[in-house]
Amino acid sequence: MEVGHKYKVTIEDFDINGYGVCHIDNKVCFVIGALKDEVVVCEITNIHKSYAFANTVEIIEKSPYRVEPECKYYDKCGGCDMMHMSYEMECMVKERRLTQTFRHFKDVIYHPLIQAKNKKGYRNKVLMPFSKDLDDYVVYGFYEKKSHKIVPLNECIISDDTTNDILYFITRYLEIFHIKIYDEATHKGLFREVMIRHTALNEYMIVLVLTHDYDFSVLVKYLLEEFDCIKSIYININPERTNVILGNTYKLIYGSKTITEKILEMKFQVSPQSFLQVNHNQCEKLYMEALNLADLRNDMVAIDAYCGMGSITLNIARRVKKVYGIEVVESAIINAKENMKLNNITNAEFICGACEDVIQTLANKEKIDVIFFDPPRKGCEKSFLDTVIKMNIPRIVYVSCNVATCQRDCLYLEEHGYILEEATPVDMFSRTLHVEAVTLLVRKDAK
Ligand SMILES: C[S@@+](CC[C@H](N)C(=O)[O-])C[C@H]1O[C@@H](n2cnc3c(N)ncnc32)[C@H](O)[C@@H]1O
Repeated sequence: MEVGHKYKVTIEDFDINGYGVCHIDNKVCFVIGALKDEVVVCEITNIHKSYAFANTVEIIEKSPYRVEPECKYYDKCGGCDMMHMSYEMECMVKERRLTQTFRHFKDVIYHPLIQAKNKKGYRNKVLMPFSKDLDDYVVYGFYEKKSHKIVPLNECIISDDTTNDILYFITRYLEIFHIKIYDEATHKGLFREVMIRHTALNEYMIVLVLTHDYDFSVLVKYLLEEFDCIKSIYININPERTNVILGNTYKLIYGSKTITEKILEMKFQVSPQSFLQVNHNQCEKLYMEALNLADLRNDMVAIDAYCGMGSITLNIARRVKKVYGIEVVESAIINAKENMKLNNITNAEFICGACEDVIQTLANKEKIDVIFFDPPRKGCEKSFLDTVIKMNIPRIVYVSCNVATCQRDCLYLEEHGYILEEATPVDMFSRTLHVEAVTLLVRKDAK
């Protein structure tokens, strides 16, 4: 086997990334873009000791699961990964991603993937970099797969129509008014990116990311004439030569500081920095699954670790005696406290700090019946898990956007007295590879 060689192969199976799996010269070969049962010609791109990778260059016999990608940029853009397969197949890949990653756990009840109704137009937050194309026109788009080159788009179908229209409108404005677009290579220019957020209540927030302050009052006027759903416009200043998109300075140039979101029975004020699940409908289903697994009662005391602006915490509060929310970002805690008042909740307490530190102060304070974790992709700190273990908390509900780190943390908890009982995958990010999961761990001696 050599890099660049082509082989005609029959695809035997699929893996947890949705790649086709076959054997060539006694090596397992993962064929990107091929589906189970297809006959394809593939070209080897990468060889390791016992496995290799290949790209599909020709499909000779098609799988019934193959579909025409709905997005015309799919081949180039690095945003989506599953548009060449039917949604049924995508769900099978995502379920396998969870069960394969969790294969070391015994007797887990796996629930079916909670499927999404809307596979398009679901994203409520978009960050689009702007650039100039070879003909010097202003363009925006996502980055090419495994590169930092922008694929110019006219629309992104996992964003909603209004977001696409606003982006197009801004592009035309920048073009007509000769606004200098930021150039990464020279670190010159003004206009870097646009962030658009919206809520299920149809309120839109726009953040213009610039290298320095600038008077965009004319753009604001035009935008408001065209889109009456825009409730808030900010400028974000990012003067640094960096891949980090947003700078630290925000300046409100129109409307209200926040937009309002409704999740289950609660309302939330969303600021530009707030963490919000990107898919509102699936977020509600995810939270309901987490609340159901927790089996809450009104005499319980709960902790919501990694609580963000309190969107799970306040939904827990309605069902228990008391809940503590812990979050490291100060502005999120300020939002959480405001959201508590907005919803007339009096039995939640928000604490700002790292979970691994704050949990120590709660450890000796009172008996905790259930704890929720919803950490970032890197999962939980070991010291945090150690304290949770010492506290003998009977139930843990772990919400995760990264099944690999969730598996690592659950394994550690199993080694220290917990049993992983149930796991549910949730399709939060349709058409992409990512899968969200909710798991329930129960303390062995609490059974
Ligand atoms: C995946 S978000 C979950 C937020 C919230 N549960 C929700 O559903 O909207 C993870 C949150 O953890 C916070 N975070 C990250 N590391 C942390 C730490 N060590 N201690 C406390 N919070 C942390 C982040 O700021 C972020 O708000």
